Amino acid sequence: DDVVTRMKNVELIEIGRWRIKPWYFSPYPQELTNNPILYLCEYCLKYLKSNKCLERHLAKCLHRHPPGNEIYRKNNISFFEIDGRKNKAYAQNLCLLAKLFLDHKTLYYDTDPFLFYVMCEYDNRGYHMVGFFSKEKESSEDYNVACILTLPPYQRKGYGKLLIEFSYELSKVECKTGSPEKPLSDLGLLSYRSYWSQTIMEILLKMKPTEQGEQPSITINEISEKTSIKKEDVVSTLQHLNLINYYKGQYIITMNTEQVDSHERAMSKRIIRIDPKCLHWQGKD
Ligand code: COA
Ligand code: NA
Repeated sequence: DDVVTRMKNVELIEIGRWRIKPWYFSPYPQELTNNPILYLCEYCLKYLKSNKCLERHLAKCLHRHPPGNEIYRKNNISFFEIDGRKNKAYAQNLCLLAKLFLDHKTLYYDTDPFLFYVMCEYDNRGYHMVGFFSKEKESSEDYNVACILTLPPYQRKGYGKLLIEFSYELSKVECKTGSPEKPLSDLGLLSYRSYWSQTIMEILLKMKPTEQGEQPSITINEISEKTSIKKEDVVSTLQHLNLINYYKGQYIITMNTEQVDSHERAMSKRIIRIDPKCLHWQGKD
């Protein structure tokens, strides 16, 4: 794809209170990328050539949140579901913005087959986008995320994992297992590995011995059903964590105290979690 191999073309973007240095090329119109700063309306994501144009736009743009339905709200975190067909301009602008931070995903000019889940933080001025993921309306390969992004000023604070957690909550409502679209970027893989590990460890550590005092047992299928994490990803995570051992003719999962301690340390840093009770969504209409 020609688009993904081109040189980085935008020096700096201004969006809401942030100025952000892009990582990769994105096909914004050339007459705008020649300017030192590209200005974005943080609510409708329209791009403008100057601060003056942005101010003029903001006076007219009455949105203070993304389009679509607010399907989740807890404390100051909200998720909006946006249909790529019904809100094409917004969806295309979102893809252009995302491409600035993605080197290998193709850009979706045809946004019709996708839904977009935008996570916002609310304050007295409005809803500010933190990140988003896209999802095919129908995926023959059980993908539950196409593209995922945390805006750089919000990265490495746990929001990526919150987006991932949300994507699996949607899959749980659909009674499906899912997996992110491949290939994943290095940062994407790190985030997924971390989410899968923590989620599976959580399940394993909750298990209690049977009433007869026997070791508890669980199958890969059961872990997959409980978490909506696709079986292959459950297996690769157990292997990655080095938890599977072969003993007296069967596979067993064993954990040492170091593994348990490091899991608990990691979980104590996951302060914000998705609360399924705050999700108001029934799947497809
Ligand atoms: N270096 C090392 N580890 C990193 C990292 C970095 N730059 N960024 C994230 N991680 C690790 C974190 O350590 C964390 O694991 P831990 O909690 O076990 O330590 C895990 O990844 C998730 O971090 P989190 O803060 O929840 O994620 P994030 O908000 O930074 O978002 C992405 C992660 C992938 C969404 C973000 O990096 C991004 O938007 N990247 C650009 C787009 C992209 O590549 N998307 C994926 C392919 S579609
Ligand atoms: Na990347």
